[in-house]
Amino acid sequence: MSKSANIVWHDSKVTKEDRQKQHGHEGAVLWFTGLSGSGKSTVSVEVEKALHQEGLHTYRLDGDNVRHGLNSNLGFSPADRTENIRRIGEVSKLMSDAGLITLTAFISPYKEDRGQVRNVLEEGEFIEVFVKCGLDTCEERDPKGLYKKARSGEITGFTGIDAPYEEPVDPEITIETDKETLEASVEKIVSYIKARKVHE
Ligand code: PPS
Repeated sequence: MSKSANIVWHDSKVTKEDRQKQHGHEGAVLWFTGLSGSGKSTVSVEVEKALHQEGLHTYRLDGDNVRHGLNSNLGFSPADRTENIRRIGEVSKLMSDAGLITLTAFISPYKEDRGQVRNVLEEGEFIEVFVKCGLDTCEERDPKGLYKKARSGEITGFTGIDAPYEEPVDPEITIETDKETLEASVEKIVSYIKARKVHE
């Protein structure tokens, strides 16, 4: 619920279209969602590198990084996760308006929250990338040792253990990091972006 009243939108003289023209491509949001340890960060880092090498203007927002700054006052309760995703959605919208291809890597466990982000963006701007990976594999990888802590009860409310992850129903892209190579996952996403003709 907005607390702001008496505020008026101020237009710029440089439009979103002007920025797109100068960049040679449209903005978009590649929204990676998946369990902890599914590979969101690893894949999004490689996709960003590939897109950058193609001359596209990119920026990557990552859960752990953003939680050190912008969202340092948020934890992992359902309400805090919703607020985390809402803020990232608004930041992504600004970045898309600035003409960037934004790559976000957040668990974003709730369907409704991801749907809200889709709604604040323009038609076609939100590209949901489901980073599909079985819980058993994520737990085996356990890169930060957090699953172990969650199993022992040292951490509570951990996604996939005692907090939910709601899988996307109709994502634009699905990658299966427990079945395909990193290269194959990256290629799938990069070719989707190219086919979308964000290039001029
Ligand atoms: S969310 O659910 O989208 O708001 O989470 P996100 O901002 O992506 O942050 C996930 C990273 O925080 C670490 N972490 C936890 N994850 C899930 N549940 C709990 N309780 C938790 N506590 C800390 C974890 O390292 C996540 O990183 P990734 O990169 O997903 O493994």
